[in-house]
Amino acid sequence: MTTEIGRQVDKAISLLEAGELVSIPTETVYGLAANALNSTAVYSIFKVKERPSFDPLIVHIPSVDVLDHYAHSIPRIAYDLAMSFWPGPLTLILPRKSNVPDLVSSGLDTVGLRQPSHPLTLELLTQLDFPLAAPSANPFGYISPTTAQHVYDQLQGKIPYILDGGPCRVGVESTIVGFEEDEIFIYRLGGLTLEDIRKVAPHCQLKLNNSSNPVAPGMLKSHYAPKHPFYLGEINSLIKQFAGRRIGVLSFDKKYADVEFVKVNEILSADGNLDAAAVKLFSAMRVLDASLVDVIVGEYVPDLGIGRAINDRLKRAATW
Ligand code: TXA
Ligand code: MG
Repeated sequence: MTTEIGRQVDKAISLLEAGELVSIPTETVYGLAANALNSTAVYSIFKVKERPSFDPLIVHIPSVDVLDHYAHSIPRIAYDLAMSFWPGPLTLILPRKSNVPDLVSSGLDTVGLRQPSHPLTLELLTQLDFPLAAPSANPFGYISPTTAQHVYDQLQGKIPYILDGGPCRVGVESTIVGFEEDEIFIYRLGGLTLEDIRKVAPHCQLKLNNSSNPVAPGMLKSHYAPKHPFYLGEINSLIKQFAGRRIGVLSFDKKYADVEFVKVNEILSADGNLDAAAVKLFSAMRVLDASLVDVIVGEYVPDLGIGRAINDRLKRAATW
């Protein structure tokens, strides 16, 4: 199969209507989309991604108005969050209606729903008469794609079409929020900050998933992983520790390119801007991973706002 990159929404529509997969741009990362109501099409997503079937998918919808087509018993606060932050990087976990196939949510009785804000994908969703199941468009466990080229590099030959919407504006995946009894939890940190969510839901707590937390079986600790060994800590001491090896450095705002043994240095944001750092995070990890180095070393960014999501991804990518 040849993989085409283009900007034709009508081409994406006919492929999706025929049960094929299309990579779609969102404000967070590129998704690998299929008709969410067609189990056979959804099954192809798992096959192409080599994703274990216990890791549920997010269903993308055109507007909050159709939320109750796919979920029931929706709490008031879920609507408040959707009204405040959709379209945008927020996924709501809600009780699943039976028209959403089991496979989409890996047999859970809940479903993850979000209205993404990328204009091309919103146009696509508005024209389709079904929602789109879409995980990030990377092979399972690898770094998420934030450009059409990233998708092409890894999925060429496996899908017919990549809808090119340019580089992603946010750069990390959506924040996942769920409701248990009267409580609200963030299961995955992402593009929408904890601080912003607390403006609408002041009691929202973190309940981040790891392999021992069954709420979201997909949030395995080792994820977003580069192929080279990746160590997190204080960069100067890590450089000393690996002296003599070819070192790649992923730094927040400082330059290490001139330091001995450093072969490549990706700086997330020279002026220390966390939003800019999030936009660059995954492409910087890809550049380092494609470089001729023996080891990659990196550091945490300030742990506030979208910095929390960046640090979460760094931690999951790290060797230790
Ligand atoms: O920004 C995003 O959310 C991107 C774009 C494409 O929308 N999508 C994305 O999908 O990050 P993915 O598959 O890489 O991550 C989806 C995660 C799953 O691993 C799982 O942790 C959680 O969403 N999830 C989905 N449905 C769930 C459910 N019913 N209950 C708990 N967690 C769920
Ligand atoms: Mg993913």
